[in-house]
Amino acid sequence: MTFAATVLTLYPEMFPGPLGVSLAGRALREERWSLDAVQIREFATDKHRSVDDTPAGGGAGMVLRADVVAAALDSVEGQGRPVLAMTPRGAPLTQARVRELAAGPGVTLLCGRFEGFDQRLFEARAIEEVSIGDYVLSGGEMAALVLLDACIRLLPGVMGAPTSGVEESFESGLLEYPHYTRPYEWEGRTIPEVLRSGDHAKIAAWRLRQAEIDTRLRRPDLWERHEGARVRSPSGAR
Ligand code: ADE
Repeated sequence: MTFAATVLTLYPEMFPGPLGVSLAGRALREERWSLDAVQIREFATDKHRSVDDTPAGGGAGMVLRADVVAAALDSVEGQGRPVLAMTPRGAPLTQARVRELAAGPGVTLLCGRFEGFDQRLFEARAIEEVSIGDYVLSGGEMAALVLLDACIRLLPGVMGAPTSGVEESFESGLLEYPHYTRPYEWEGRTIPEVLRSGDHAKIAAWRLRQAEIDTRLRRPDLWERHEGARVRSPSGAR
């Protein structure tokens, strides 16, 4: 099954962009996913082909019109695919949501510019608002590329060796353990001895311990959630 991505944007030339190279690019050519970039402006109705207008209530910037964006959206053969709008006001994107999306038929993504979309659009078309982080981009296109990249790498056949999904950062609720490779000694620094022991049980225990230490120090927010989940479900207790 092909993962079908449709992107609605004022800058279709930004796609596939970086997703045309490396693993995602090869997967695109192999038709493991498809991409359709739709120009929102083609659905403007006035002679100036305007897609935006001044904010109701006043203030800076411009707001994308609900009627124009809805017309663009309604032209897409959605086929039951979820519609997501990329906006800093959205729910934070998580690896769990990425995994759900990647397991489905695809996504339709709305990319805003300016001050954003007329809010009535989201209510009228049951659109999920998604943010990729607590910072503001100049538009939703980069966020859409990020979301697509995260989904595409999970599609069957895209990554060389399929990950168990357990060891990877965020899947287990922990950051991933640190990695090392040759040379054994570099600038006076060596590789942890346990990694050269060949004792796979000992290595697994060391990696888990490192993941726990790093998560606690670097991401106390993740650590708290992880520990909370462990306490609530004793089957996960160690
Ligand atoms: N558009 C602008 N900023 C964004 C963000 N942080 N996430 C998603 N879409 C955006």
